[in-house]
Amino acid sequence: MPTPERTLVLVKPDGVARNLTGEILTRIERKGYRIVGLALRTADPDLLAAHYAEHVGKPFYQPLVDFMLSGPIVAAVVEGHRAIEGFRSLAGATDPTVALPGTIRGDYGRDWGLKVQQNLVHGSDSADSAAREIALWFPA
Ligand code: TYD
Ligand code: MG
Repeated sequence: MPTPERTLVLVKPDGVARNLTGEILTRIERKGYRIVGLALRTADPDLLAAHYAEHVGKPFYQPLVDFMLSGPIVAAVVEGHRAIEGFRSLAGATDPTVALPGTIRGDYGRDWGLKVQQNLVHGSDSADSAAREIALWFPA
């Protein structure tokens, strides 16, 4: 039996504000993953700089941070076989305009006037990112 993988999922402020937290967590559970950590958090600039370290300084970074500070976030540790890749597949492409129907971003991400950063969810992109991000959002 391989060790189940863990990934850090965030329901971003738009997902929480649009009452999509339950829907998103349901999709994760229906896929067969377990939610082994869950918290309602408000981000701060230092947490976001660490979380999005690879994006600091890019043109979209400050709008992304402003958006991530705009309301509460639901953070979840999700566990399952190949959960890192699997959740990214459930989430769909970064840009909700091109995310396929059937994915979280493809089904709910696009609404009139929304920006690309308002794409409902975050999922870790590698085992290293997952370990780093879980430690950031679930300290101790
Ligand atoms: P990224 O890590 O590339 O995407 P993903 O969330 O799919 O791993 O980017 C982080 C977030 O930054 C992304 O969810 C939305 C935002 N973003 C923009 O606003 N503009 C962009 O051009 C990119 C690439 C990302
Ligand atoms: Mg990313």
